[in-house]
Amino acid sequence: MSFTIVEQCTPRLNRSELAVPGSSPQMFEKAAASGVDVVFLDLEDAVAPDQKEQARKNIIQAINDIDWGSKTLSVRINGLDTHYMYRDVVDVIEQTSERLDLIMIPKVGTAADIYAVDMLVTQVETAMKRKKRIGFELIVETALGMANVHEIAKASKRNESLHFGVADYAASTRARTTVIGGPNPDYGVLTDPDVDNSRSYHWGDMWHYAIARMVVAARANGLRPVDGPFGNFQDPDGYQAQARRAAVLGCEGKWAIHPSQIPLANEVFTPPAKEVERARRILVAMDEAAKAGKGAVSLDGRLIDIASIRQAEALVASADRIAAAG
Ligand code: GLV
Ligand code: MG
Repeated sequence: MSFTIVEQCTPRLNRSELAVPGSSPQMFEKAAASGVDVVFLDLEDAVAPDQKEQARKNIIQAINDIDWGSKTLSVRINGLDTHYMYRDVVDVIEQTSERLDLIMIPKVGTAADIYAVDMLVTQVETAMKRKKRIGFELIVETALGMANVHEIAKASKRNESLHFGVADYAASTRARTTVIGGPNPDYGVLTDPDVDNSRSYHWGDMWHYAIARMVVAARANGLRPVDGPFGNFQDPDGYQAQARRAAVLGCEGKWAIHPSQIPLANEVFTPPAKEVERARRILVAMDEAAKAGKGAVSLDGRLIDIASIRQAEALVASADRIAAAG
């Protein structure tokens, strides 16, 4: 292990994260009653410019009045390049109860962006004598943000998670796609001809590098990596395939842009009972190994060692959090 200890952010369930436009208050109660882990009330891209002020009022009222149960509650503010952002922060923190858990910052480009929002949030929190520190969720969705992702991840003690905003990322990198998330038929590999001259074409995942890079930056700084939106809500299989790719790379959850995507994400990001059971057995076996002075033993015919303890502990901790949330 390095002498540098990676401090872990506040642990939270983040398997599913529902985007709810602040301009659609009729959707708030349904979101609060849903099975989602995190709700983010949006002031940014789902809200038209002439609705920004009303959306802000709706969100303030919803934070104060609606019973959000044990869900994590977040507000996506507007970008730092707009004139809406400062009032999003000031009004939302000044006028709401301490029920608000997180602020989501979109289109983060540099560590200084986080520093600026941290300064503003800190001033308002202090002035209002708030006791609970608001955390930050950061959307990595521009070429600049991805280039600076490591510095961004460590820019504030408030940081909790990095999110891959695939739609804006595609626009920023000028990727040749107009859909939100998922694979692209042009991103594939044509195999060399076989003995019978036949060739196969295998689709690849054009988002692999971006998500993997974000995961490394998040984990190196004790944050949760979360995969962003998948636009086609009529394709549950495509959604789950994308979610599984993100889970395999280390993401803890995925956005839902439609309520039907919530159970899909919860299923993918809940560790299967069989894996949890094996993880618990690994911990018992390694405990016995330690007592016998051994560093590695075999379990079900496979080698396990001290690294297996860390993998198993992470899995068990996540399963326990899910069980505690009911
Ligand atoms: C999310 O904000 C995205 O741009 O995909
Ligand atoms: Mg975006």
